[in-house]
Amino acid sequence: MDIDEDILREIEKEIQEIKSRIGVDRKTLNEVFDRPTLLAFGKLISDRLIDYVDFPISTGKEANVFRAVSPRGKIIAVKVYRVATSNFRRMIYYIEGDPRFSTIEKSKREIVHQWVRKEYKNLEILNNLKIPAPEPIRAWKNILVMSYIGDEISPAPLLKSVRLKNPKPVYDEIMGYIKKMYVEGDLIHSDLSEYNILYFEDTPYLIDLAQGVISEHPMAMEFLRRDIRNIVNYFRKYGIESDAEKIFNEIIKTK
Ligand SMILES: Nc1ncnc2c1ncn2[C@@H]1O[C@H](COP(=O)(O)OP(=O)(O)O)[C@@H](O)[C@H]1O
Ligand SMILES: [Mg+2]
Repeated sequence: MDIDEDILREIEKEIQEIKSRIGVDRKTLNEVFDRPTLLAFGKLISDRLIDYVDFPISTGKEANVFRAVSPRGKIIAVKVYRVATSNFRRMIYYIEGDPRFSTIEKSKREIVHQWVRKEYKNLEILNNLKIPAPEPIRAWKNILVMSYIGDEISPAPLLKSVRLKNPKPVYDEIMGYIKKMYVEGDLIHSDLSEYNILYFEDTPYLIDLAQGVISEHPMAMEFLRRDIRNIVNYFRKYGIESDAEKIFNEIIKTK
């Protein structure tokens, strides 16, 4: 592969700037921006998907999400998986049995790349079903480029951090997403909770789709149950009482 040293130098400079601009600790940033990741960024920049990285939105256990800007000036979100701190066993568990992917003889780095492609494809399914979620733009190596949910000032808050004035329609909407995803998209989020839903302009958006499995997965039904239970439990604090098991049975009956 041709390494464009100029681009690499430019990104390194930019990262130095991010480091000095924002209070993300050096260890994390060094973990995120290893050389292969810098090269991957270089490719996305030369493919004109990213112009520059603005600032970090989130530092999670396995990935960092950055706000970035496209060459057309559009704000986008960039999720970067840190190969060094990824939990491969967990990833393999959610990939295995998925006919879209294979885990045979894959390096740890390749497993992470598949994980990113899985998140991309799952987001694609949601977009095709018109379920509110980030629009996937590109999966490349350990980087996922997607549309940004939020406004100029700040990214959309998590559902868990908003105080809903009228919770019932939001609850119904999320249950509708779970059902549609499974019945029409054959997909189960598998990590759904108030921590993986953004709330923007009165609409819940599903995020963090990498662990989403299709119904063939041996644990699919358990994951579906758990997703429903998490939402039921969360909305109980708003006084919405519903029976998770009943909803689960209704949903699987529809398919
Ligand atoms: N497309 C997006 N637009 C705006 N913010 C986002 C977007 N994707 C993720 N985020 C923010 O980054 C955080 C982490 O993203 P998530 O995909 O849940 O990764 P993690 O695996 O670290 O939980 C989210 O809680 C949300 O605040
Ligand atoms: Mg998350």
